Amino acid sequence: MVKHAMMLDLTANHPNHNNKLKSVHTHIYCMTDAIVLGGSRGIGRAIAESLRTINVEVFAASRKDIDTSDLKSVEKFAQSHPKTDILVLNTGGPEPKKFQDITEHDWNKYHNQLFVGFCSMLQKVKVNPGGYIFLISSSVIKEPNEKLIISSAYRAAFSEVFKVLSKTYAGSEISCINIAPGPINTDRTQELIKDVKEYEKSLPMKRLGKPSEIGDFVKSIIQNDIKYLSGVVIDFDGANSSHVF
Ligand SMILES: NC(=O)c1ccc[n+]([C@@H]2O[C@H](COP(=O)([O-])OP(=O)(O)OC[C@H]3O[C@@H](n4cnc5c(N)ncnc54)[C@H](OP(=O)(O)O)[C@@H]3O)[C@@H](O)[C@H]2O)c1
Repeated sequence: MVKHAMMLDLTANHPNHNNKLKSVHTHIYCMTDAIVLGGSRGIGRAIAESLRTINVEVFAASRKDIDTSDLKSVEKFAQSHPKTDILVLNTGGPEPKKFQDITEHDWNKYHNQLFVGFCSMLQKVKVNPGGYIFLISSSVIKEPNEKLIISSAYRAAFSEVFKVLSKTYAGSEISCINIAPGPINTDRTQELIKDVKEYEKSLPMKRLGKPSEIGDFVKSIIQNDIKYLSGVVIDFDGANSSHVF
C-alpha cells in the first residue's frame, strides 16, 4: 500500500518569498507491496528476491496461484489481490513450434496466456498512484523468431496495449516499463537451447544474462524513485539485438 504522499512547500523559507510565488509540491511515494506473476522461478523469482532486499512485501505467484492461460484463474487471483503498488506481468513462454505445426488450441491458449490474461489483470487489479507496472516480454517483439511465432505475435500485441495504457497510467504517476529480455540464464533457456555452452560463445558478451541483473534493474528503478522512464521498451539483451529503434 502507498503509505504517504508528502507535500513539501519549498517556498516557505525562500528569501524572495512573497504571495506571487507558487508553492512547489513534491509527492514522495512509498512502495510497500508487489505482485510478481511467474515469481516462483527464473526472471520473476529474481525480481521478487531483489525487491525483498528493499523491504517490499512481495507476493511471488507460481502457476498454482494463477495460470494466465485460464481466465477464470486470473479472475480469481485478481479478486484476492485487488490492489498493489508494483505489478510485474510475467508468465511462462510457449514451446517452440513451426508455423505449420501450430494448432488452434495453441493459438487460443497463448492468446489467453500472453495477451488476454494480462489485459484482464490490468482491468481488475488497481495499481496505486505512484506505482509501477513492469511487463516481462521478449526480444522477439522487435526481432520475431521463426521458432517463436506465437510468442512474437501475442507479446507484440500486448506491448501495443501496454504502450497505449502507459499514457492513462501516467496521469496517476504510475510508470509502465516493458522489459524485453534477450537470452537469460533460466530454465526457459535450458529448455529452448540444446547446447547452451556453445550458444554462449555466439553472444556478444559470451554469456547469458543473469536473472539477478533484471531483478536489480527493477529494484533500482523503484529504490531511486525513477518515474519519468515510462512507456518504454528496455532491450535487456547484452547487445545481442541488431536494431536501433
Ligand atoms: N529466459 C530467457 O532467456 C527469456 C528471454 C526472453 C523472454 N523470456 C520470457 O520471459 C518470461 C520469464 O522467463 P523465465 O526465463 O524466467 O521463465 P521460466 O524460468 O520458465 O519461469 C517461468 C515462470 O512463469 C510461471 N508460469 C509458467 N506458466 C505459467 C502460466 N500459464 N501462468 C502463470 N505463470 C506461469 C512459472 O511458474 P511455475 O514455477 O509454477 O511453473 C515460473 O514462475 C517467459 O515468458 C519467457 O518466455 C525469457
